Amino acid sequence: MISLSKATSPIKGKITVPGDKSISHRSIMFGALAEGTTTITGFLESADCLSTIDCFRKLGIEIEKKNNHMTGVPTIYVHGKGINGLTAPDSLLYTGNSGTTTRLISGILSAQSFDTDITGDASIEKRPMKRVITPLSEMGADIVSVKDNDCAPLHITGGKKLHGITYNSPVASAQVKSAIILAGLYADSATTVIEPALSRNHTEIMLKAFGADIHNETYEDGKAAAVLNPGQPLKAIDINVPGDISSAAFFIAAALMVPGSELLIKNVGVNETRAGIINVLKRMGADITLLNEDDSSEKRADILVKYSKLHGDDNKEFVIGGADIPTMIDELPVVAVLAATADCTTIIKDAAELKVKESNRIDSVVDNLNAMGCDVTATDDGMIIRGGKPLTGAEIDSHSDHRLAMSFAIAALGADGETIIADDKCVDISYPTFFSDLRSLL
Ligand code: S3P
Repeated sequence: MISLSKATSPIKGKITVPGDKSISHRSIMFGALAEGTTTITGFLESADCLSTIDCFRKLGIEIEKKNNHMTGVPTIYVHGKGINGLTAPDSLLYTGNSGTTTRLISGILSAQSFDTDITGDASIEKRPMKRVITPLSEMGADIVSVKDNDCAPLHITGGKKLHGITYNSPVASAQVKSAIILAGLYADSATTVIEPALSRNHTEIMLKAFGADIHNETYEDGKAAAVLNPGQPLKAIDINVPGDISSAAFFIAAALMVPGSELLIKNVGVNETRAGIINVLKRMGADITLLNEDDSSEKRADILVKYSKLHGDDNKEFVIGGADIPTMIDELPVVAVLAATADCTTIIKDAAELKVKESNRIDSVVDNLNAMGCDVTATDDGMIIRGGKPLTGAEIDSHSDHRLAMSFAIAALGADGETIIADDKCVDISYPTFFSDLRSLL
């Protein structure tokens, strides 16, 4: 349990956030499928990414952590064995709380010569897996939901020959896209995944760096595709993981919440498929500047945030929806917290995906904001936040959802009275040192 109260002084200084979760998962997975040793610096050692390491060790991949003998920098070494080098695990693969591990590994395992069983914690066993079962089955995989409820546990029967498909995904989901593309590495022809809007494209950028023939296409109607031509061997590379913008989001929000703040967040990944929070907050009047931008491979920058009063458009409304949603899907809870303090009504729409995250993030955000005195209503695909009422401290139910716990820790900084977050340990999923990092700034 953790207790927080209103910040009494501005947040000043600088901070570095841990490595990007999406890139860290993919570094292990793609490194395992590459020939040679992939080195990873800046790897996120959180519970979710450790689940990925654990699964690939069970699949016969040697993964070690040691300081680089030349630079002294802590480095993960993944001794890849090529796309056909995985071996049958002795036991079930346990993916913990990680949707990314569960869905992406399903794509890889669909193409192996051996059978596998995959499951995760209680939250994973409720999250939808039909979205990967359907396209992978269409490619020729034999993948079933063991309890016949379209969720994990999943059983995958090996020895199937996969063929390439063109898949029109009903959702903009990088996990779905990546599962199909990873299975596509083993297929006998090209695989194309078309999404309603471009979701995070780390798989495309990183697989290309490993040597795959893959690219993105965007269409006039806003749809986007990832196209993979299989057959190129993957070759080990050196990866430096930028800071996670989804973790930086909490500190961007903290600086915007506490009057007089000025904070520099160093070395954050700002790939445009992830940086929606910056664009949207700027449109709401936030003073955010990107410094030291570096465009090589995964774009990164330092983010300078100065306290700003957030507002809506001239009609005192602000709408967040459409193609912005996939670029900030994980940041919507903390953006909703900021919207509660803004001088406008914020409408979040086209975000029904929030219902199938680590918790139902429409209900969990709305309930907790209401508990803090905000006037907010859930809708079918988002929420309506009538901002500007003072927030008061409350007991927060995080539903063991890491991003909920961190979002409401930020709300606490702007709320009168005490805020209690019962399950503070859940932040270990993506940001184990979150509370100590936050306290270091207060
Ligand atoms: C992720 C994709 C997103 C995101 C998740 C990480 C990834 O999920 O919410 O935290 O690494 O591919 P969806 O693909 O379900 O949108």
